Amino acid sequence: MLDNKIAALINDQVNKELYSAYLYLDFANFYEDEGLDGFAHWYEIQAQEERDHAFKMRRYLIDNGISVKFEAIAKPDKVFKDHLSPLEAGLEHERYVTSLIHEIYNLAFEKKDFKTMQFLDWFVKEQIEEEKNAEDMIKKMKLFGGDSKGLYMLNQELAARSYNAPVNED
Ligand code: FEO
Repeated sequence: MLDNKIAALINDQVNKELYSAYLYLDFANFYEDEGLDGFAHWYEIQAQEERDHAFKMRRYLIDNGISVKFEAIAKPDKVFKDHLSPLEAGLEHERYVTSLIHEIYNLAFEKKDFKTMQFLDWFVKEQIEEEKNAEDMIKKMKLFGGDSKGLYMLNQELAARSYNAPVNED
């Protein structure tokens, strides 16, 4: 059985991960409207990964005897002024998620909950990748996105992202 506070934070994080999926699908909607199908595709895949994060946490709770409770998922309410804005919002969001994961990790550390620390190691590593992906996209957009040919090429590159179902390493 997990500590109540740790279980509550992970339960809350399930909601946050599902919100992340919703948020990134909303980014995809924006790019679809803008005719940038590669960007939209990249965020569709990102939304699938976020859903996987939520499933992984839900499963951890269930496997540890916790009854999972869902709350409403917030509405994504960002309004974007240009093609760069969602990318910047994505990086800001990932930094926020990293801070949430670290908060849970810190509590697990204080409670000497080594099992949860080990479980969260995957998420700590994943967040490094998530932030790097977001930073790289901003860099590329700033370098190439101002030119229509560059934007076209970038859109093509992002269209090539493929979804890899998570391997269950538990
Ligand atoms: Fe679930 Fe993008 O972190």
